[in-house]
Amino acid sequence: MSFQHPSFGSVSDDRVIIFDTTLRDGEQSPGFSMNLGEKLRMAHALAALGVDVIEAGFPVASEGDFESVRQIAENVDGSVICALARSGGKRDIEAAGEALKKAKRGRIHNFISTSPLHMKYKLRMAPERVLELIAEGNKQSRQYTDDVEWSAEDGSRTEPDFLCRCVETAIRHGATTINIPDTVGFATPDEMQAIFTMLRERVPGADRVIFSTHNHNDLGLAVGNTLASLEGGARQIECTINGIGERAGNAALEEIVMALRTRHDRYGLNTQIETPRLLSVSRLLAATTGFDVQPNKAIVGRNAFAHESGIHQDGVLKHAGTYEIMTPESVGWNSTSLVLGKHSGRAAFRDKLRALGYEEIDDATFAAAFKRFKELADQKKVVFDDDVRALVDEEGRDHD
Ligand code: KIV
Ligand code: ZN
Repeated sequence: MSFQHPSFGSVSDDRVIIFDTTLRDGEQSPGFSMNLGEKLRMAHALAALGVDVIEAGFPVASEGDFESVRQIAENVDGSVICALARSGGKRDIEAAGEALKKAKRGRIHNFISTSPLHMKYKLRMAPERVLELIAEGNKQSRQYTDDVEWSAEDGSRTEPDFLCRCVETAIRHGATTINIPDTVGFATPDEMQAIFTMLRERVPGADRVIFSTHNHNDLGLAVGNTLASLEGGARQIECTINGIGERAGNAALEEIVMALRTRHDRYGLNTQIETPRLLSVSRLLAATTGFDVQPNKAIVGRNAFAHESGIHQDGVLKHAGTYEIMTPESVGWNSTSLVLGKHSGRAAFRDKLRALGYEEIDDATFAAAFKRFKELADQKKVVFDDDVRALVDEEGRDHD
């Protein structure tokens, strides 16, 4: 099956659209703001990575945001450039339309809260008024572009019948992508899957739009919820590099993309991401914001392909597949790293000696050097190449 989209043309059912919101939702996390030059550099890197849609900012929010969206729209090729606006916020939509004027392919993304809690306390609006604003916002947006996304903020906590009415209204008034966010990271994977299954079954016109999922990570479920949404029929995922975003962040792009690629046997879905660029984009963002990812972060953390335990090192030296489910090269690392520490065994130690040029070492020197390496490793977290050279050279001298 395929689907006709205003920006992507014919989209086949196994294709997942990657919508990156590092520059909008990601930038909203405390301490992560970026200036114009930094945003432009990130946007070029995201386009080269193969991101389908770059959400560049919220133009009405500030002059700086307007200018970043405008410049990204003018200068960054290859991706659809998207600007955020509140449904029914006339000035929001004018600013978004204006900022996107020079984009080759531009999208306006309207959103409004739909949950009882948000409508009552945040918007102080009756549900019928929310429906009117959805209609007005989408109609106004279509005057600027035929690529219009509508989001139900706090969608996962919205009453199902009302969510169906909102989505139907959004489609009837011109939305081509319907996004259901788990705004507060409250939903579980089965719940997210069920929402998309329900909307696709119940809402008239659902077969004419792409459903999108947008998950926050408050319970550490953002990536799981994203994958489950795809099983419910969503075909756009909203995510950020390194999972940055409000509070505990958004679903991490690199994790979802590699889950889909590594478990193609299960999902049968494809993205257009150039995965060997993942590490460099992650590092560019870390250098730009000053926030490193944690060492054990999947895919891009410094330990993601590092092995210290002797059993694992031995296994990886015999066949990488024993302890690696994807190659380090496939996401931009040069190679697997065998870190020498107190858990390392003889195989890794011998491998390191070979790499350092000690090919012809005799058995006695090797045994003595290995013993001293273990003693040293008990005192140090990591044994570096210079440590190994020093102890082999000393042992070699002792045995001469
Ligand atoms: O989390 C959220 O609900 C959002 C919307 C604006 C899409 O970021
Ligand atoms: Zn969000």
